[in-house]
Amino acid sequence: MTTGTTPEGTAGEQAASQWVRGMFGRIAPRYDLLNHLLSFNLDKRWRARTVGRVSPILDRPDSRVLDLCCGTGDVLLALESRARRPLLASDFCHPMLVEARRKIDARGLRSPLVESDALSLPLAEASLDLITVAFGFRNLANYQRGLEEMLRVLRPGGVAAILEFSQPTNSVFRALCGFFSTRVLPRVGGIVSGSPDAYSYLPESIRKFPGAEELAEEMRRTGFSRVEFERMTGGAVALHLGYK
Ligand SMILES: C[S@@+](CC[C@H](N)C(=O)[O-])C[C@H]1O[C@@H](n2cnc3c(N)ncnc32)[C@H](O)[C@@H]1O
Repeated sequence: MTTGTTPEGTAGEQAASQWVRGMFGRIAPRYDLLNHLLSFNLDKRWRARTVGRVSPILDRPDSRVLDLCCGTGDVLLALESRARRPLLASDFCHPMLVEARRKIDARGLRSPLVESDALSLPLAEASLDLITVAFGFRNLANYQRGLEEMLRVLRPGGVAAILEFSQPTNSVFRALCGFFSTRVLPRVGGIVSGSPDAYSYLPESIRKFPGAEELAEEMRRTGFSRVEFERMTGGAVALHLGYK
């Protein structure tokens, strides 16, 4: 599997990580709008499906849950609404957390937000029952370390749920998605966000990201068991689940 994300013009993990944090910081105020617009609102369905799959854990009143790379908090909002109690969320990009805080407060919810790197979480070993990460894993500078860190903080029996872009299985649909993400998305995303580099990074990072089978294999190699995945929207997105 590729080591981690490699934005154009960066060399090494630290530079990649800094670039990612800076880029999300610049697009934070427009992130939600663009997400819904450029996915034709399908992102809401993908997140809802993820929350549905982990709902048995959320329904346990004592379960400890972290939404990793929470961004502006859409997954967290859905998780907390389902669990009906504060959960935990983290991200390393301050402006994204500011957006998340605003949305959480507006809904009268109470989850605390932690500003931290997913590759080095300020959490004790075996302290969580569930980690969700939606469209964040692909941006990590080191995938292996990201998986190891999740495994470290999960309790035995705990679950990691990784929702991420993937490669459509049908070649025609794959070509169509490729056209959309390399021709349409960078233009519309660049104009609306004012950060063209962010929306040329997006298709590039999806193209370089491992396929669903490969990610599942990497999760197994890291030590997750009962790894399974489901493809959504023809494989454009995949949800992986793995148990500690
Ligand atoms: C595409 S956004 C996804 C946000 C949210 N989960 C969602 O579903 O909309 C990716 C997020 O991952 C965060 N991120 C990327 N690398 C990270 C890292 N190493 N540690 C913590 N957060 C990271 C970014 O700051 C950004 O907010």
